[in-house]
Amino acid sequence: LDPRTLETLGVERFGGKLERAVSAHAKVDPVSGELLFFDYATTPPYMTYSVVSARGELTHHEPIDLPGSRLPHDMAFTEHYSLLMDLPLFWDPQLLERKVHKVTYYPEMPSRFGILPRYGTNADVTWFEASPCYIYHVVNAWEEGDEFVMDACRVIQAEPGAKRGEGELARMRAFLRLEAQLCRWRFNLATGAVTEDQLDDEKTEWPTINRHKMGRTSRYAYNSMVPHYEGLVKYDTLRGTSEKYLFGAGRTSNEAPFAPRAGARDEDDGYVVTFVADANAANSSEVVILDAKNFAAGPVARVRIPQRVPVGFHSTWIPGDQIRAR
Ligand SMILES: [Fe+2]
Repeated sequence: LDPRTLETLGVERFGGKLERAVSAHAKVDPVSGELLFFDYATTPPYMTYSVVSARGELTHHEPIDLPGSRLPHDMAFTEHYSLLMDLPLFWDPQLLERKVHKVTYYPEMPSRFGILPRYGTNADVTWFEASPCYIYHVVNAWEEGDEFVMDACRVIQAEPGAKRGEGELARMRAFLRLEAQLCRWRFNLATGAVTEDQLDDEKTEWPTINRHKMGRTSRYAYNSMVPHYEGLVKYDTLRGTSEKYLFGAGRTSNEAPFAPRAGARDEDDGYVVTFVADANAANSSEVVILDAKNFAAGPVARVRIPQRVPVGFHSTWIPGDQIRAR
C-alpha cells in the first residue's frame, strides 16, 4: 500500500521469491531492521517462517511441520530466536475437508510453542508444551539467560458461547467479545521447562509497547480494556503495577500505539495515541493523546476528526520520517 494514501500498489513478493502469504503481525526487529513473519495453510506445509532483510530481500524461508492445519495469529521474537505457535483452536479438520470453516477449541490438547534460532530450520525448532489456550496478541519477548520470556494476552474463553437472540451472527459476535489477561511464559531452552504466570486479573488485550524495545527486555505495555474498550491500562511488569485511564460514559478507544517523544531515553518517555469514538454524539471520533509517564492524568491533547472510527481496530504509530513517498 502507499503509506500516505493507502492506495493499493500491488503484491509484494520480495524480489519475486515469496510464494506464500504473510500473516498478521509480521514484526520488525528495531536493531537489524529485519521483517519476521509466518503464514499458515490448510495443506502441508501447514506453516512457513520467513525473514526479510532491511533492504527488502527474502533472506530466509522455511516450512515448519505442524500436526495439522492451525490458526495462529501472532508470533514472538528475541535478539536470537523466533517463536511460532501451535494452539488448540483451529478449523474442525473433518469439516474442513468439506470446505466448511468452523473454528473449534480442543481443550484436551496442549498449547505448543516452537522456538528456533532466527535463521534456524524446521529441524532446529524446540517445541514446548503448555496449558491449552488461545493467544491473539503477543506483548513482547526477550532473552534472560537460558530463558525465552514472552508476555502475551491469554484468551479466557477460547471458544466463547454464542448468545441466544443474536441471530445468525451470534457466533461471530461471541468471538468479538474478546476477553483476555496478561500472562508471562518462560521457556527454558537448556532444560525444556515451561512456566506460565498470569500477571493481572484485569481483562485487557491489544497490547502495544515502545517499538524500540521489540525483542529486547521491556517493562511497559499499554493495553485496551476488553470487551468494552472503556479505557486503557498501562502495565509496569517490572514493578508489577498498573495504571488505568477511563474515557468516560459512552466513549470507547481502540488499540493505542506508543509514540516515543523525540529524543526520548526512558522506555515510557512518549505518548499513547488512540482513536476514541463517542456514542453520545453520532459520527464523532477524536484522536486522544496521553502522556505515557503521566498516564492516569488523562489526555494532553484531543483532536476532533471528521469521521467516526469504530471500535476494535488495530493501529500503529510510525514516525513521519519513516514513511517514504513513492
Ligand atoms: Fe491482530
